[in-house]
Amino acid sequence: MTESNILFSSFDMKGLSLKNRVTMAPTYVGYANPGGTVSELTLDHYREMASSGVAMIVVESATVNQEGAGFPIGLRTDGDQFLEGLSRLVTVIKDQGVLAVQQINHAGRFAFSPEPLAPTGGPEGAPPREMTLEDIDRTISAYADSAARVKAAGFDGVEIHGGTGYLIDQFISPHTNKRTDTYGGSLENRMRFSLGVFEAIQEIVGRDYPVGYRFMAYEGIPGGLEIGESSKWAEELAKRGVAYLSVTFGTYESFMLPEYIEIEKTECFMAKYAGEIKKAVPHTPVITAGRIQTPEAAEKILAEGTADLIGLSRVLIADPLWPKKAAGKLSEPINRCEPACSLCMKRVMSGKPVFCSQWTKERREAFLVRIGEKPEEVDQSPD
Ligand SMILES: Cc1cc2nc3c(=O)[nH]c(=O)nc-3n(C[C@H](O)[C@H](O)[C@H](O)COP(=O)(O)O)c2cc1C
Repeated sequence: MTESNILFSSFDMKGLSLKNRVTMAPTYVGYANPGGTVSELTLDHYREMASSGVAMIVVESATVNQEGAGFPIGLRTDGDQFLEGLSRLVTVIKDQGVLAVQQINHAGRFAFSPEPLAPTGGPEGAPPREMTLEDIDRTISAYADSAARVKAAGFDGVEIHGGTGYLIDQFISPHTNKRTDTYGGSLENRMRFSLGVFEAIQEIVGRDYPVGYRFMAYEGIPGGLEIGESSKWAEELAKRGVAYLSVTFGTYESFMLPEYIEIEKTECFMAKYAGEIKKAVPHTPVITAGRIQTPEAAEKILAEGTADLIGLSRVLIADPLWPKKAAGKLSEPINRCEPACSLCMKRVMSGKPVFCSQWTKERREAFLVRIGEKPEEVDQSPD
């Protein structure tokens, strides 16, 4: 592969000029300070990711308010006290000529909160609590305030997290949204929250500021969101000027299903859904991620018009030199993200900072020592 391939051609979207087609997909690593500020570890991590040769980094999800926090420790955008750290993060990324986008999220029923909120409550008063119209309005405002802060910190754009089964997806999904008011029932009603968030953000950051969407194309659960409905959702976002759709498949519920666990191990497993959404909104840039292990596979996706941009998450953490190796700037082979390994997810699920089984022993040990864990006592097994 050389720099003459599509993978290394430039791409413009909504005022953003990408030097190539490789982006870092948002990847929560748990490196923030306990209060949600940007840590030195966060800065070092994104410095390395920015030096990989990617054109754009979408920084992992930051919470729009505390009741929506997806993790006990994670980045926050819900107060001006976070601005300084976020600005330092922007500088670290942009100093290397890489575009910086911040993802923002509310985890809804999956939030680490004493009283998680959701479009529909649990059975017989069990959590989560069903959101009132007042909850909905103030949550939409929280997204807008966060987006304004992301812009103020100097990011090139903001990405709304509409995937993984978090709050926005919980509203769109016929599986989790059983409301009978104007936010439930028909697709038009189920989209109202997502579109309300988008419009409130545009209102505050201006229509020219790039607002992207991590987009749920197919939930992969019985009674869940299907491609027919998500295509219509994509059309509504396209009409409103979304900068790009970063297409995903699967929620925390489908992640547990044997069929998802199998599909998830296969190369380019989300590209098919990106292709469907690209057909629905041909003029909107589409990103696809999901075990895009080789430059050849990435090139094929671009050449066939399945997507416009490639997203690398675990793949880039397993080999932060992937883009440079792919461009032929380094001759060593790419270290693959091992499909049978789930060490990073195991670490996330146990509330610990992520590291990768593909890193050298020296690197893993140095990392564990830095975060105050004893390498000999840490489970480093892949499954
Ligand atoms: C440890 C981990 C953390 C993730 N964090 C996020 C996140 O913060 N936001 C998001 O939209 N997706 C997140 N994802 C999903 C990835 O962006 C990506 O879509 C998925 O892992 C497939 O790409 P890959 O095979 O290159 O990892 C995460 C995935 C992993 C494994």
